[in-house]
Amino acid sequence: MSNVFNPKSEIFKNPAFGSMEEYKNLVEKFDTDYEGTWASFADEKIDWFSKYDTVLDESNAPFYKWFEGGKLNVANQCVDRHLATKSNQTAILFEADNGESEHITYGELAIRVNKTANMFKNEYGISKGDRVVIYMPMIPQAAVSMLACAKIGAIHSIVFGGFSSEALRDRIIDAQAKLVVTADGAYRKGKPYMLKPVVDKALESGCECIKNVCVVKRNNEDITWVEGRDTDYATMFENQSEEFAAEPMDSEDPLFLLYTSGSTGKPKGVQHSTAGYILWAQMTMEWVFDVKSEDTYWCTADIGWITGHTYIVYGPLAAGATTVMFEGVPTYPDAGRCWKMVEKYKINQFYTAPTAIRLLHKMGEDEPGKYDLSSLRILGTVGEPIDPPAWKWYYEEVGNSNCSIVDTYWQTETGGHMISPLPAATPIKPACATFALPGIVAEIIEADGSAVQTGEKGFLCITKPWPSMIRTIWNDDERFIKSYFGDCKKDGKPVYFSGDGAMMDEEGYITITGRTDDVINVSGHRIGTAEIEASVKKCEAIAANAVVGKPHEIKGEGIFAYVVLKDPDSISKEDLIKEINKILKADIGAIALCDDIAIVPDVPKTRSGKIMRRILRSIAKGEEITQDTSTLEDPSIVGVIENIVKG
Ligand code: PRX
Repeated sequence: MSNVFNPKSEIFKNPAFGSMEEYKNLVEKFDTDYEGTWASFADEKIDWFSKYDTVLDESNAPFYKWFEGGKLNVANQCVDRHLATKSNQTAILFEADNGESEHITYGELAIRVNKTANMFKNEYGISKGDRVVIYMPMIPQAAVSMLACAKIGAIHSIVFGGFSSEALRDRIIDAQAKLVVTADGAYRKGKPYMLKPVVDKALESGCECIKNVCVVKRNNEDITWVEGRDTDYATMFENQSEEFAAEPMDSEDPLFLLYTSGSTGKPKGVQHSTAGYILWAQMTMEWVFDVKSEDTYWCTADIGWITGHTYIVYGPLAAGATTVMFEGVPTYPDAGRCWKMVEKYKINQFYTAPTAIRLLHKMGEDEPGKYDLSSLRILGTVGEPIDPPAWKWYYEEVGNSNCSIVDTYWQTETGGHMISPLPAATPIKPACATFALPGIVAEIIEADGSAVQTGEKGFLCITKPWPSMIRTIWNDDERFIKSYFGDCKKDGKPVYFSGDGAMMDEEGYITITGRTDDVINVSGHRIGTAEIEASVKKCEAIAANAVVGKPHEIKGEGIFAYVVLKDPDSISKEDLIKEINKILKADIGAIALCDDIAIVPDVPKTRSGKIMRRILRSIAKGEEITQDTSTLEDPSIVGVIENIVKG
């Protein structure tokens, strides 16, 4: 084998998998008895209030049901059940933007969750099944609010704090939420920023479902206050009881919704279950991060993304570890911030996105060397393909060539990791997600289910249901079937298609090759081109547009728009970018800004009027055009656009 890095076994004590043989044995066990093996983990890991009757119900596929008849509560699984042994252990270690820290023990967390659950119930009338939108910065109250919802059985829908009022409004309306939990704002790079005004704007129209807004005063900046609707978290929280009986939830009751972009129109409310989700969150925490009770683990994601849900809050707490929550940004006050925190808290596992690694590499190549990072055992990456130079720096400079890198492949829809190295077992190849985890049947196939040759690209499908999979799209079962079970079949049966391409090498290692649909991955965040195009179209001067991803040094992919003007000389390129970005910022948020545009006379269309995005993608990437252009209405347009883009 070439370019393979073996795990340093001496840094692991009792890992879940100590060798590839152990990995293969479990894969085989799942092969022989899929349901029985899942059941054995459900029995071992979950603190059931009452046990399930069936393991997997496939009778209404693809609406699979796991552990039907079982009762449990995720807040109990993450907090209460640990109290007998871990009451004084830090559950959440919060570091503020200014470097101050707060240690919240499991005992204290239990009290805060109960008081918040009482507050939601008594002051805002939240009960089982109600939707609560959380629009929060990275502060402990965000995690506490999630767990309080879980304790009541309310369904939370977290909206990332970088989304605009329009995006927030759409998500509130789609979920018909009753309550918004937010903050006046928080701190970033030493300065206050605001969130509450965005909520106020979102609620101006169409959100009659919202009865109350619960506001954490974090930065104490001036905000407007709507009497009768807005309430102060701290005041409401103060006099609540410290006891709250956890709602016994059915295994299949929804735990949360999380909106994500698809290749068409509006975002989809991905709905996750209770038992299957928390089981896999905990198992992958133990398998992939080798997390032990005494470990301090840090995932730098925001709780507004699935990574923050599964691997800042639910997974680490279910596994009984100490999870770090960080308000600030990795480059403030300098590009050594993360490494300083690793040294200060003796962090054992560090999990971040390739975008952050590229940025830290570029801005602070030598920073890791200034700190004692010897506590680290595992370095994780997620969200997008990592490029070999960033991987090498991460491995050598951050990990001192001693840590295992886990390149974890998964999605909002999968709930937890699907393909990833096991840190003490898997010989890793740089920038490669390696193998499917035991219990996950990942196959690279053609759309009809036929095999793809070794080294060739194919569609990445998960061909058996797994416990933490998406259950449906909120209020849209049809879109759920169409989006995930409409494209690929295996043995004539629809199977889950991830939307990603992948290939396998001769040793069975899986490399993710990226999205095959019209979704762009900007800094590890999924943005549908259709959503961006709908906004760009609002720009007065624009007659038509097509948006694609273009390689970007830091973000991985940036947003590139081809625009056709109504009047070619009406506006300069610079002014047009400003106009477009103003609209995108208002409609979606700052994460969706265009990096560059090309003003073109037309976009390549088939005779039936379909825009050939693949050609535009190739041009943006500077690739040679290999697609057949003879079916285009005007094949000569390709050369014209190529010349414009090349400048
Ligand atoms: O394209 C894949 C990419 O991110 C997408 C999922 O995005 P999202 O639902 O926002 O979740 C991100 C965090 C789990 C996937 O369809 N992706 C995720 N992890 C990897 C990846 N691409 C390459 N390598 C990965 N490790």
